Amino acid sequence: MSRSGRDPDKRVRTAKGRTASSVRWLERQLNDPYVKLAKADGYRSRAAYKLLELDERFNLLKGAKRVVDLGIAPGGWSQVVRKASPKAAIVGIDLLPTEPIDGVIIFEMDFMADDAPAALEAALDGRPDLILSDMAANTVGHKQTDHLRTMGLVEAGAWFAVDNLAPGGTFVAKVLAGGTDTELLTLLKKHFTSVKHAKPPASRKGSSEWYVVAQGFKGRPQDA
Ligand SMILES: C[S@@+](CC[C@H](N)C(=O)[O-])C[C@H]1O[C@@H](n2cnc3c(N)ncnc32)[C@H](O)[C@@H]1O
Repeated sequence: MSRSGRDPDKRVRTAKGRTASSVRWLERQLNDPYVKLAKADGYRSRAAYKLLELDERFNLLKGAKRVVDLGIAPGGWSQVVRKASPKAAIVGIDLLPTEPIDGVIIFEMDFMADDAPAALEAALDGRPDLILSDMAANTVGHKQTDHLRTMGLVEAGAWFAVDNLAPGGTFVAKVLAGGTDTELLTLLKKHFTSVKHAKPPASRKGSSEWYVVAQGFKGRPQDA
């Protein structure tokens, strides 16, 4: 019950002028414990808990020195990194604006733009040991197209990781159902000692998203 004594679910169900999908989204938001938790804990997104849960399982954040957050907006993941590793240098990028976060350099630009990788590299002043990608392409409703567009982003993130990570580094990325496709998996297995898939509990059961966690970057040929 809301403070006005009305049942929020009922209010949503009877709302006029909303599309079925926006009603479903609102219902989910109102009933979602992670949304409530995020509000209480001061995180900007419920997605923050996905990273916290991945960190619990894979121990990603403690001791991270330079971190890249691909698809940073609205900023939940960087808030989590900031808390876990207060001294880490963090740089993020997103098509959308992100409210400033203390000590985080934020680029409002397309990661697929030619000059994006160089901008991120320059901002970090050293090789990152952790590259996170929670990027997801805007969906158009056509399953194969949506899958391809998001996997294109993941693949670009993986190449960025292979070109930039410090030896021993970690790459984490959101992927869609079916996990990583063969080509991407081959790339990651070639360059990392451990490649695992995980669906953190905060990831909605009905959603096709998974995360790939690649740890133990073997280093670039020029690092040898
Ligand atoms: C699920 S949200 C990230 C949530 C974030 N991890 C958090 O905790 O607040 C995915 C983000 O990826 C961004 N994105 C999608 N395509 C992108 C691109 N080509 N370049 C940069 N960001 C992109 C979207 O704008 C969106 O903000």
